[in-house]
Amino acid sequence: MALPALRWPAEALWLDLEPLRPGLSVEVSAECDSTSTRLLERARAGDPSPCLLVAERQTAGRGRLGRQWRSSLGDSLTFSLALPFAPPRWEGLSLAVGVALAEALHPALRLKWPNDLWLPGEGEVPDRKLGGVLIETQGLANPGRAGERFLVVGIGINLHAPAAEPGDAYARAGVAELDPSLDAPGALARVARPLLETLAVFETQGFDATLQARFAARDALRGRRVRLQGAGLGDEEGTACGVDSDGALLVHTGPQGETRRIMSGDVSVRTC
Ligand code: BTN
Repeated sequence: MALPALRWPAEALWLDLEPLRPGLSVEVSAECDSTSTRLLERARAGDPSPCLLVAERQTAGRGRLGRQWRSSLGDSLTFSLALPFAPPRWEGLSLAVGVALAEALHPALRLKWPNDLWLPGEGEVPDRKLGGVLIETQGLANPGRAGERFLVVGIGINLHAPAAEPGDAYARAGVAELDPSLDAPGALARVARPLLETLAVFETQGFDATLQARFAARDALRGRRVRLQGAGLGDEEGTACGVDSDGALLVHTGPQGETRRIMSGDVSVRTC
């Protein structure tokens, strides 16, 4: 089996993180199909223990809406955090995760609902996607608490933008453009603790007013024209006007000021 090529602070991370989530393990894999797939399969096979699994290379990385997630060794941070989770309500979880990541990585980063990290454009340069979050859950054979499920938060962050390919849905950026000193282990060290802390807040309070305000401070879509597609919407345009207390995206669509509440993760939202 290939050994990891980079220097990962796995032991130091574990010492820092385990007190926040007792029983958490921190694992580094040189290569796997998808860190999220690995952890979901582990839980299905009867091991739902908390784990942060990093892969230097994924051969079948998965994104939202059934898309592929492309990344390559040294150019990206790909990891999943899995744990039994029982929040008072689940709405807004992906937004909360995005908030934790953006705040930990750089003040310039913005959030594109529901959970993309964006580097804002300037002049002729468009906004570019720098990272994404994939939230998946699965039932537990023996839930310890009411409503508890096995949560897998999959995170992909570009250090350097992958080369553009025909048919790409968006332009891409890398966080090293903002902070050239950052490598994948450094980025993990920066985001892991804030991520666990935010999940701990979410598990007691859900998407509360504080998280809503933190999202609003980085909302990349507010005030912009957007096109909505999917989940029976046809193809509709409107102006994004923030997220509500359930984490739903609010979009003014009609001349009479009708507002659509977009809850579904199946809806694709593009800027016009
Ligand atoms: C998206 O923006 O579409 C979400 C991308 C999530 C990618 C990460 S990389 C680590 C984890 N494993 C996967 O297969 N996907 C997530």
